[in-house]
Amino acid sequence: MCVKLEYANPTGSHKDRAVVYMLRRLAAEGLLEPGGCVAEISSGNTAAALAWAARLLGLRAVLYVDRGVSGVKRGLIEALGGEVVEYGVTIADREAAVEDMERRGCAYLHQAGNEANMLAHYEGTGREILHQMHGRVDAFVMGVGTGGTLTGVAARLREEAGNTLIVGVTPRGSRLSGGPGGVEVIEGLSSHDIPSLYASRSSLVDRLVEVTAAEAAEGVAALLDQAGVAAGHSTGAAVAALRRLVEEGAVGRGWRVALVAADHLSRYPGLAGLLAGRRRRG
Ligand SMILES: Cc1ncc(COP(=O)(O)O)c(C=O)c1O
Repeated sequence: MCVKLEYANPTGSHKDRAVVYMLRRLAAEGLLEPGGCVAEISSGNTAAALAWAARLLGLRAVLYVDRGVSGVKRGLIEALGGEVVEYGVTIADREAAVEDMERRGCAYLHQAGNEANMLAHYEGTGREILHQMHGRVDAFVMGVGTGGTLTGVAARLREEAGNTLIVGVTPRGSRLSGGPGGVEVIEGLSSHDIPSLYASRSSLVDRLVEVTAAEAAEGVAALLDQAGVAAGHSTGAAVAALRRLVEEGAVGRGWRVALVAADHLSRYPGLAGLLAGRRRRG
C-alpha cells in the first residue's frame, strides 16, 4: 500500500490543489478580477484552502459555515484570511447563501459541481501517483466528498495504468449508496448529497464500499501502527475499505494499492482522544 501524504500541503489537505486550480480557472474565464471576491459553502478543508489561496492572490474569500461550526475551525479560517458568514443547514439555507454571494458580488466556487476540481487531480494528483508508483497501480481507494479526487485520479489511471481497480468509499447509509444519508458521519465524506461531479463520472468507479465511523477510526489506528502515518478520519475509512476488499479476496496480497491521506489526525481532536483512550485501556 502506498499513501500519498496530501496533508503536507500548505493548509494541511488535498483541497489546496483543487482550490488553486478552481481559482485559476475562474480567473482564466474572466470571472475573477484582481481584488475580486470568491465564495464557497464549507467549514472544512476547502474553507481553509480557499481562505489561504485567496489571500495570496489578493482576493477576498467569503466562507459560509454552518452555525454549529467549532470555534477552532472558524478561527483557522479567519486566521488564514477568510471572512466567515454563518448559515443554517437546510436546502433553503443553502439557496439563501448562494443569493447572498450574488448580492456581495462574489464568484461561487461550487466545488461539488466544478470540473476544475476534478481536473486538479487528473492533471496533478493522478499524474504524481503514477510517477511515484513507477506506473504500476493495481487499485486506488478514496473516500468520496465531491468525488473530485476519486474521479480525477481514476480518469488518469484509466488512461495510463490500464486496469486499475477504482474503489470509492462512503459512510454507511449515505445517499450515494442508496441510503437515507446522515446515518454515519465521517468528516469530508458526503452522506446527504450526491455531488454532480461524482454522478457524472461514476462509471469510472468499479466498487463503492460503505464503512462506519468506528471502522474508519480503526483504519486510522491501523495506518498509524503499521505505517506510522497519522492521517484523518476519511483516510482511515479508505484503509478500512481496503482491509475489507483484501478479506474478500477482491484485492490480492501482492497488489500495489494507492491511497491519499487527505488530511492529518491532528485536525481531529475528538478522534485523537478516542484513540488515546483505547491505548490507555490497552
Ligand atoms: C478529509 C477529507 N477527505 C476526503 C475528502 C473527499 O475529497 P473530494 O471532495 O475530492 O471527494 C474531503 C473533501 O472535503 C475531505 O475534507
